[in-house]
Amino acid sequence: SEISNLEAKQKVARKMAERVKDGDVIGIGSGSTSFLALQEISKKVKQEQLNVLAIPTSHEVSLTCSILGMPTSTLLNARPDWAFDGADEVDPQKSLIKGRGGAMFAEKIVMKSCEENYILVDPSKFVTYLGEKFAVPIEVDPRAVNLVETELARLHATDISLRMAVSKDGPVITETGNLILDVRFKEIPTSFEKEIKAIPGVIETGLFIGYPIEVLST
Ligand code: A5P
Repeated sequence: SEISNLEAKQKVARKMAERVKDGDVIGIGSGSTSFLALQEISKKVKQEQLNVLAIPTSHEVSLTCSILGMPTSTLLNARPDWAFDGADEVDPQKSLIKGRGGAMFAEKIVMKSCEENYILVDPSKFVTYLGEKFAVPIEVDPRAVNLVETELARLHATDISLRMAVSKDGPVITETGNLILDVRFKEIPTSFEKEIKAIPGVIETGLFIGYPIEVLST
């Protein structure tokens, strides 16, 4: 249920905060689970008067950091010692679908920039195969939408929908000014992360296949 999922997220957020030590540079993922972890981390940092530096993966996380009084930096100025993030789906091989919040482009850059990555999930995120529940989010340059749709059809996409905004008219526009297609496939072979990325106009996908991550759950 929703309530037990929230409790599970809260628990895993506290677990993540235990990992924080003085001097850490931490990559901060986006989404509700990461948000809870960031709050737990901030509590600990204040209580124990630790020095940590946050590398946010979205404007939303940047704002939360400044509200919490947590100093931030960028990948141009600092390298994260470790990072945490959420996920929409985790399969038995620890491959992921991410991007429900549309931040997968920055999230993947941060994940690739450090060697220690934690994925924080409640039990509802575990699936037997990728695509079981979620579509694959694909960030696309607006000029390439038709091309990308044609190329995705070649990869046997079964459904392609342009992600629409909820509280404004028109489509979701990402932080880098792009669109998001939510795409369903008959199946998702491990080669798809690279194959989709190779289509001109594709900025990034929400497929995270074979990354060295540690999954933290309850
Ligand atoms: C953000 O773009 C996503 O990749 C999130 O990490 C993912 O959607 C998980 O979000 P929740 O923690 O809110 O479930």
